[in-house]
Amino acid sequence: MKILGIESSCDETSVAVISEGKLLSNLISSQDFHNIYGGVVPELSSRAHLQILLPLVKKSLQESGISLNQIDLVCATAGPGLIGALLVGLTFAKGLSYSLQKPFVPVNHIEGHIFSGFLMKDKPEFPYLCLVVSGGHSLLLLVESDTQINKLGSTIDDAAGEAFDKVSKLLGLGYPGGPKIQEISKGQKTDFADFPVAKCKNEFDFSFSGLKTSVLRLIQKEYGDASKIPVNDVPLIAASFQYSAVRALLNNTEKALNKFNVNSISLVGGVAANKMLRDEFQKLALKYKKNLIIPSIEFCGDNAAMIAYRGYDFNAYPSLSDYSFIKRQM
Ligand code: KG4
Ligand code: ZN
Repeated sequence: MKILGIESSCDETSVAVISEGKLLSNLISSQDFHNIYGGVVPELSSRAHLQILLPLVKKSLQESGISLNQIDLVCATAGPGLIGALLVGLTFAKGLSYSLQKPFVPVNHIEGHIFSGFLMKDKPEFPYLCLVVSGGHSLLLLVESDTQINKLGSTIDDAAGEAFDKVSKLLGLGYPGGPKIQEISKGQKTDFADFPVAKCKNEFDFSFSGLKTSVLRLIQKEYGDASKIPVNDVPLIAASFQYSAVRALLNNTEKALNKFNVNSISLVGGVAANKMLRDEFQKLALKYKKNLIIPSIEFCGDNAAMIAYRGYDFNAYPSLSDYSFIKRQM
């Protein structure tokens, strides 16, 4: 079975090829130009996907040593994401599947992330606790099987990655904020400011908007506005913020570990690239004697390997109009 996967839900165009269960290619083209606008501009994103997708598909097949007519299955992200961006990958994939007379599987982007741990050598064992932290989602899930995903908690306002992006913008560090905050916080003490970790009604829910507002209030109170923050204070504020954001994610995961008997823990999504978060999850897994699966960095952010994997794992191949995955509990 040879599978072609396409991802185009936001600002990464990605194409992957899996052959007989082996990942042969996972090309990712990031639209870095959005940083001059301080965030993703949807229309520009769609246009950039359109330009790069065909050459990327050709390159990915070439890298895999596979010709187009050897492909048995075409998968593409069907949502959630930016509608125009999604349409580019989806329409391309559907057209390809039609012309090749091979099945097409629409894949839910979040499901792609949830099962991205299976791209690693050590795989999660069901049931597992999965923390999905990306630019658009913060979800704590109990994953019982391929098709049984129970939501324990989610964000009631901003997503974790969104909080990193917004605080980075407040500090004038640019977009995407996660890597910038991580970089500038390296080696800094984390107690410069005591930013809060929100408590929600549902003990597994997250809230990051208060944390972001606390950063803003500190800037206003201490400096007037962001342009007046002394250069030496920026890394300290960033490090204190990162510490609180990581604590929030860690606390809820630990509460869930105390309540549910799981075999593994998996940390996935763009924010899972965060070094402090990865290190803290290692300690947590050690404390609770659980095996921990965090995808390597190339599989944390948006990538087509996870889409191809999930599309294949689906096992049933729905017709072009069958979006039955949407009905599943997410
Ligand atoms: O999964 P992803 O690539 O796209 C979505 O599905 O949203 O996640 C992107 C998010 C961005 O908010 C970005 O700032 C964040 O992941 N991110 C990080 C790091 N690298 C990326 N956040 C914290 N630390 C990082 N090292
Ligand atoms: Zn994503």
